[in-house]
Amino acid sequence: MIRQRQQPTAHDSLSSRAIDELYMRRCLQLAYNGLHNAKPNPMVGAVIVAADGRIIGEGYHVRCGQAHAEVNAFASVRPADEPLLRGATLYVSLEPCSHWGKTPPCADLIVSKKVRRVVCGCVDPFAQVQGRGIQRIREAGIEVTVGVLERECLELNRKFIAVNTAKRPYIILKWAETKNHKMNRQTGEASLPGLSAIAAPDRCVTRHEDAATAVCPSPLSAACQGGGEVTAPALLPRREPLPISTPFTKMLVHKLRAENDAILVGHETVNTDHPQLNIREWSGRDPERIVLAHSTEGMPAWFKCFSDIDTMLSYLRMRRHQSLIVEGGAITLQGFIDRGLWDEIRVETAPFVVAHGVEAPHIPAEACLDRQWYFDGNIICRYLRDKSLTFSSPCDCCR
Ligand SMILES: NC(=O)c1ccc[n+]([C@@H]2O[C@H](COP(=O)([O-])OP(=O)(O)OC[C@H]3O[C@@H](n4cnc5c(N)ncnc54)[C@H](OP(=O)(O)O)[C@@H]3O)[C@@H](O)[C@H]2O)c1
Repeated sequence: MIRQRQQPTAHDSLSSRAIDELYMRRCLQLAYNGLHNAKPNPMVGAVIVAADGRIIGEGYHVRCGQAHAEVNAFASVRPADEPLLRGATLYVSLEPCSHWGKTPPCADLIVSKKVRRVVCGCVDPFAQVQGRGIQRIREAGIEVTVGVLERECLELNRKFIAVNTAKRPYIILKWAETKNHKMNRQTGEASLPGLSAIAAPDRCVTRHEDAATAVCPSPLSAACQGGGEVTAPALLPRREPLPISTPFTKMLVHKLRAENDAILVGHETVNTDHPQLNIREWSGRDPERIVLAHSTEGMPAWFKCFSDIDTMLSYLRMRRHQSLIVEGGAITLQGFIDRGLWDEIRVETAPFVVAHGVEAPHIPAEACLDRQWYFDGNIICRYLRDKSLTFSSPCDCCR
């Protein structure tokens, strides 16, 4: 009898773990499409793979209140491929739900579809699920593997997890500082002798025999904008904002704003910088704008004002906001650090120094450096509080 040669599959040279990771990575890519509309639900992606390694269904959770990722993945299977479900593996980045919410339990749907195996990225920390979905599927005799690309899957939904475990929004502390840790420029600052500056097309760069004592000439003077060597002004006006970000990193700040629900600054920052805190250099919904101040006098109408952190956090919980960016200044940031109220810290450091300015907060000892980016001479460092979420080889689809 002549045996028909089997067609090689996409898996042939991969270990079973590598195969699981391959499809889980696809789940993460799909899940990320829910970034703006899935909340307050988590972002979830699902992939259905037939026994021969062919993807026969895909889906993600598009919008809160609508179908979950698994439902969309099953709905995308062509009628001709339905018989393949019995030998198929369902990959899903988060444990399938087991409770009736706005939609029926996904665990029941999976059982009714009689797939051979289910692979979950991580357990759902949501109190009503927490392993019950996995249990329901196992009890129906379906093989379940849990924890494939677990760190990436947890990291993707870190805001959802913060809300469901710490019972507060995910808090990002963000600031920009000079090389000598100043966040602004202070009153009556004198330039150092011998300083010269060179203008770059998009930003002001300083040059000095000793870089550690170089001072950024600001505000960006006409000479700086026009190019050529200039001498820094001898005396600068009182407390003033310092342009530390580059045009590109400024755009990233706006992107970060678009990805988070609320943004907060301290009273003094409003007084000196008059920040708008909206999104102008990216697209998306403006975050809710909040200020911490003991008096609302003189505060722009678009700021929601709070005189303490706890009341502010209760308000964010009531609004079902999942994330908050704290954009300074130093007193405000330190208040969050002192109380351990943070999950992530992003610091942008420019290569120049200023003689006097508000001292930036110290990075807390428990912070773990997760990633560094270099843009136009500035360094952005991202620290995480939860060591288990830091990456040795980051997955860009989750950033
Ligand atoms: N480089 C950067 O990334 C960056 C970012 C932001 C700001 N800045 C600079 O930083 C400077 C301001 O920093 P700063 O440290 O002096 O002031 P700040 O943190 O902006 O504001 C401090 C004020 O905010 C209120 N506040 C802060 N925490 C509070 C809390 N837990 N409860 C109640 N009220 C609270 C208090 O207002 P009351 O006065 O009402 O008591 C306090 O005096 C500005 O010059 C700005 O240019 C730099």
